[in-house]
Amino acid sequence: MTLSYADHPALQGDFEPARYDASLYDCEVIGEIPAALNGTFYRACAEWFYPPRYPDDSPFAADGMITAFRIGDGSCDYAARFIETPRYLANKAARRQLFGYYRNPFTHEPPMQGQYNKADTVSNTNVIFFAGRLLALKEDAPPMEIDPDTLETKGFFDFGGDYKAPTFSAHPKVDGRTGEMITFGYEAEGLATNAIWIYTIDAGGKVTSERKLSAPYLSMVHDIAISQNYILIPVYGMVSSMERLREGKVHWGWDTTLPSHIGVLPRHGDASDIRWFDGPAMAMVHTFAASDEGGVITLDAAVSDGNPFPFFPDVHGKPFDPAGARTTIRRYVIDMNASGGGWREERMWQDKPGALSRIDERFMGHRFRHGLLSFSDETKPFSGDMGSRRPTNSLGRFDFATGEVEAMFAGPEFGLQEIAFAPRSPDAPEADGWVMALGTNYETMKSELLIGDTANLAAGPVARVRLPFRAPQQVHGNWVPAWSRGA
Ligand SMILES: [Fe+2]
Repeated sequence: MTLSYADHPALQGDFEPARYDASLYDCEVIGEIPAALNGTFYRACAEWFYPPRYPDDSPFAADGMITAFRIGDGSCDYAARFIETPRYLANKAARRQLFGYYRNPFTHEPPMQGQYNKADTVSNTNVIFFAGRLLALKEDAPPMEIDPDTLETKGFFDFGGDYKAPTFSAHPKVDGRTGEMITFGYEAEGLATNAIWIYTIDAGGKVTSERKLSAPYLSMVHDIAISQNYILIPVYGMVSSMERLREGKVHWGWDTTLPSHIGVLPRHGDASDIRWFDGPAMAMVHTFAASDEGGVITLDAAVSDGNPFPFFPDVHGKPFDPAGARTTIRRYVIDMNASGGGWREERMWQDKPGALSRIDERFMGHRFRHGLLSFSDETKPFSGDMGSRRPTNSLGRFDFATGEVEAMFAGPEFGLQEIAFAPRSPDAPEADGWVMALGTNYETMKSELLIGDTANLAAGPVARVRLPFRAPQQVHGNWVPAWSRGA
């Protein structure tokens, strides 16, 4: 049987599948990796081992792959390995793609038709180290445990059976002081249901609470936020239904006519304590973080007015609107003391699009000042060719108090992926340390890990770890300091 990616326009150039596991000892380094930088940068990647059944399927359905940059003593070793999900193994046994559209089991090939959740997940969205385990995350299924040293797949993990929802989040929040995780699954009572189950899991990995909510409507709840006292749950017009799945459509469609909502649940309250606040259409796919004082919550997020995903069509047939997809940094202020059910929106940083929002996660769930993000500075030169696209070319530290940003320009040849942050020491000041991101060098079409020092971002990368090949496309990743693993 012919195996070719040629008919898939989305899988060309820098998105051409790499398809290989890799292990590379002692990578080439330009500059100096800081001697005090000691840990592993794990990346969750989306990589089609077999081409999609439908050329217009979204990258959300590409196979999960974990890569690891292990850094210490000024050196770096690299490894990459596919996650052996049941889907990946079934496809390999059949030597072809058996599965149809992302999260639409009606479009899978028999005998996989109708199978979903553990059967069709690709575990490709995030990778975290929590309670001594490395977990690959995807919001349509439980976590997949990965050996942090060999990157071998160990299997689905459900916290000793105490995590009961069939789905999990790719963006659980871990309180930076207590180590407690707040996480959730949506479509928690089956495909296309509006059930959201919220869990608290202590730092040792024990589930301590389960709360079952119903959203105002079924929506892609990709990310939440936590403040000192509240859990914030955005619901917006990325919608689905059993009808559209049975019609063989992609899981998600965008509905501009729906209001958006933010659910506010006390961290230690019951499900009945949820309050839903309402506002105009927007898409809050990712949050930076939240904080609260005196009952007033501030939620900072990267938000667009319209559909951010061109591969999820408008349910009313409207053409994709690139201006509506533009993401900017916004602050949402919710007053729990007020009787009204709305919020106040402040637009904070408008001239540089960027959607990959992080903070120094030691401050998650507490007062914080800085956002960390990869963004596109369109005033900078680009020597590569991405067609009509513009590269993400800068890593920034955004100051929510002053609105100012310090930035590291990667160089004219680079397109960057998501930022990761490594604190300088366990008790370093907030956002003091090193930033890093994988870059595609568009002159060589190979990958480099670029590392910058927050003490002088404008100076550019202090180290470039060069790979002799192009690494897979990252969805999200995290720096895991050696000290957090007891090393
Ligand atoms: Fe995400």
